[in-house]
Amino acid sequence: MKLKLVAAVAALSLSSLAHAAGDPKAEALMKKSDCFSCHAVGNKVVGPSYKDVAKKYKGNAKAPAMLADKIIKGGAGNWNAVTGGVPMTPHPQISKADATAMAKWVLAQ
Ligand code: HEC
Repeated sequence: MKLKLVAAVAALSLSSLAHAAGDPKAEALMKKSDCFSCHAVGNKVVGPSYKDVAKKYKGNAKAPAMLADKIIKGGAGNWNAVTGGVPMTPHPQISKADATAMAKWVLAQ
């Protein structure tokens, strides 16, 4: 019984560690921006969960550049089945370098 509890607590702390995957600087930039008002790591909010985004583009070498572009320009189309066609807002104030770091952070989830 006690062992089960210990295992559950260990699993819980592991899953919260998993949320911290990726470059902490990129995560901080995303927290300063509006990303987490529409996205969460583990569940859909307005946009798809970051875990689902990472799964969709796993092994796709073009994903960081493509997603950085999408973060800057916004738009819909890749997740219509999840979002009902709601577009992501554009972020023209975010530099290509920062958007690429954010895309890589998302892909590490
Ligand atoms: C107004 C809500 C909203 C905000 C704010 C927002 N997103 Fe999104 N995001 C969406 C929606 C909706 C989609 C799905 C777009 C689609 O269907 O192609 C999406 C998709 C994405 C994708 C996957 C793109 C693709 O083509 O597969 C990434 C990566 C992403 N967002 C990252 C971010 C980051 C980083 C930020 C902060 C700079 C951010 N989002 C802010 C709503 C938002």
